[in-house]
Amino acid sequence: MSGDQRFFAFLKERIGLDVTSVGPAIIERAVRQRITLSQSASADEYWQTLQGSRDEQQALIEAVIVPETWFFRYPESFATLGKLARKRLAELNNMRALRILSLPCSTGEEPYSIAMALLDAGLKPHQFKVEGMDVSPLSVDKARRALYGKNSFRGQDLEYRERHFTAQDDGYRVNDIVREQVRWQVGNVLDPALLAEDPPFDFVFCRNLLIYFDQPTQQQVFALLKRLTHVDGVLFIGPAEGSLLGRLGMRSIGIPQSFAFSRHSEPLPAPATLAPSIMPPSTSTILPVRQPPRSTPPPAVRNRPFASATPLPASAKAANPDAATLLANIAALANEGKSTEARAACEQYLRSHEPVAQVFYWLGLLSDVAGSALEAQGYYRKALYLEPQHPEALMHLAALLQAQGDTAGARRLQERAARSSRTADNERKR
Ligand SMILES: C[S@@+](CC[C@H](N)C(=O)[O-])C[C@H]1O[C@@H](n2cnc3c(N)ncnc32)[C@H](O)[C@@H]1O
Repeated sequence: MSGDQRFFAFLKERIGLDVTSVGPAIIERAVRQRITLSQSASADEYWQTLQGSRDEQQALIEAVIVPETWFFRYPESFATLGKLARKRLAELNNMRALRILSLPCSTGEEPYSIAMALLDAGLKPHQFKVEGMDVSPLSVDKARRALYGKNSFRGQDLEYRERHFTAQDDGYRVNDIVREQVRWQVGNVLDPALLAEDPPFDFVFCRNLLIYFDQPTQQQVFALLKRLTHVDGVLFIGPAEGSLLGRLGMRSIGIPQSFAFSRHSEPLPAPATLAPSIMPPSTSTILPVRQPPRSTPPPAVRNRPFASATPLPASAKAANPDAATLLANIAALANEGKSTEARAACEQYLRSHEPVAQVFYWLGLLSDVAGSALEAQGYYRKALYLEPQHPEALMHLAALLQAQGDTAGARRLQERAARSSRTADNERKR
């Protein structure tokens, strides 16, 4: 079944998933899972089943999508949204409610965070409406249920949970006032007629989806996003997706860590009310438009962008109990969007401990997101020197090589990643 192009082509056509961006291992694993669950005797038999069943098609899509998300992911972007929303309402003389789109919304954490941020910024419920949309009906159903476990709450500042959730035996339920601000729909970003009848949105969030697409698909989706975003509106994207937008004539609004773009060709001045803390603490903060053009986006990361699926190295835990705490701290800082602090924590780790692959991987990712592709490559290579099968380092370095036109080098690394994931699968089965 390995490398079965039929499945790659099917997923590319249906949801835009590009095997070169994510590597074959993720898709092959999902297909293997569905072959087993559908009790097909072979890949050929499963292919036949897939052709004849819409339910099976949807099941394969559900098996391959990455629904990873959490509340207030990239916190600065929500602080920025609150300020921009107040400014926009004033421009509109409060004549209509603001329209905000979260596409893809996954299991709902992003649209609910938007609603919470706007209520916290002082907007009244009648002043805005949020639309959440995703290709996965299962995810949209979960979003509608509005009940969340601890994995949806990350980072240290969870004060919002006290204000906007009610604790229940089985998790935390989003309070009605927030829930009523969001409407849900199943929709595919590849659908050319998507929301064609709707007026444009003042704010569009499209985060952590484009990284899974090839360039022509990204162009197609950008054209859609541009149509969906009001001419005076703002588009929020994921940290690794900024370099792609510059080519479409959209410009960063210049607020670090917000990953926000406008349709104007010149950067918008920052809203007058912006708190100084949001302005860049140093030149190493992330400004997506400054990233060098790359032909291939960074690869998909199944987990948090800065967190690794790789367990903490045993040597780090055993040799020095501090190491595990420091590594957890690096992850927390990076996940909160505090790149400068995360980088400093990595450097501190390397000064006081034996080097481990995970720290070099983080340094690579932080450099990658900041647009320093060469520096990122160096760090990924160091990670792989220490841990040759480090899965995320393999995937990210592969994407960088691909971006430089080194397709053969990229393929070798992806094959290595696939081999190591197959070995891990086999070990789990034993
Ligand atoms: C990693 S989540 C991103 C969620 C959220 N925007 C965030 O950044 O936290 C990616 C989501 O994209 C959705 N997705 C994948 N392909 C899609 C498509 N063609 N159209 C709409 N949604 C899609 C998946 O179902 C998944 O929920």
